[in-house]
Amino acid sequence: MPAKVNLASAMAVARFFFYDARHMTKPDHQLPKTRSGEPRAFFGRRSGKKLHGGQQAVFDATLPDLEIKLTGGLDPRELFPAAEKIIIEIGYGGGEHLALEAGRHPDTGYIGCEVFTGGIGKMVQTIAAEGLSNIRLFTDDALKLLVTLPDASIDEVYLLYPDPWPKTRHHKRRFVSPTTLAELARVIRPAGQFHFATDIEDYANWTLAHILRTPQFSFAPEKSGGWHEPYPGWEATRYEQKARREGRLVSFYFSFTRA
Ligand SMILES: C[S@@+](CC[C@H](N)C(=O)[O-])C[C@H]1O[C@@H](n2cnc3c(N)ncnc32)[C@H](O)[C@@H]1O
Repeated sequence: MPAKVNLASAMAVARFFFYDARHMTKPDHQLPKTRSGEPRAFFGRRSGKKLHGGQQAVFDATLPDLEIKLTGGLDPRELFPAAEKIIIEIGYGGGEHLALEAGRHPDTGYIGCEVFTGGIGKMVQTIAAEGLSNIRLFTDDALKLLVTLPDASIDEVYLLYPDPWPKTRHHKRRFVSPTTLAELARVIRPAGQFHFATDIEDYANWTLAHILRTPQFSFAPEKSGGWHEPYPGWEATRYEQKARREGRLVSFYFSFTRA
């Protein structure tokens, strides 16, 4: 059964179904597996430039208090006992959006997932410099974290400018897949939201095609094309700034609601 759509998005939806028919020859495609047979959703670089002395010292002193270590199931309420909401950001990169939102919403607990050491280092420095106390970091594949979370334990998830994997043979590496959407649908509470932004039209179409066959999520933009307007209070992330410099001037900012 397709997800709910309103009239304003009907044309767009028809286009995405057309995309679906043309490109998703294997509708049940699954993520590649790790050696131990678990689905894997991270395929990028783990390490970047070495941190210089001062950065390394802040990193070593601060990360242990922030880092989430998985030892069995994870109850996010234990991380943030007094939080009004709990939000996850997957692939926060340099952490611009995560830090901005955490500073604006001190009563919300944020879990940031990032694997690239350069990004983690920058995030740790920002947390220390700005005294942010409502962020915890997971430094491995976000899917490993998702599968350990209880049902309906998260209010919102952001996936901003995920790696586009443009070659057709690499599409199966895209973070959006039946496996990850099933996990997101399980952990996001009813009426919670999954936000997805990209500058790559093919990935936007890919995501809508997958969402439309995930009945737990609905896509009901107020007006056709409204998904080109950024989220309220939005400031461009580093990747969005790069996209604009490279001439990719249009982005897609989707929000899907958990039924
Ligand atoms: C293209 S960058 C975008 C970064 C940031 N969101 C922005 O808009 O500037 C994608 C980021 O997602 C991270 N990433 C990709 N797959 C991931 C996964 N499975 N778990 C955690 N992070 C992931 C990458 O390391 C990379 O930093």
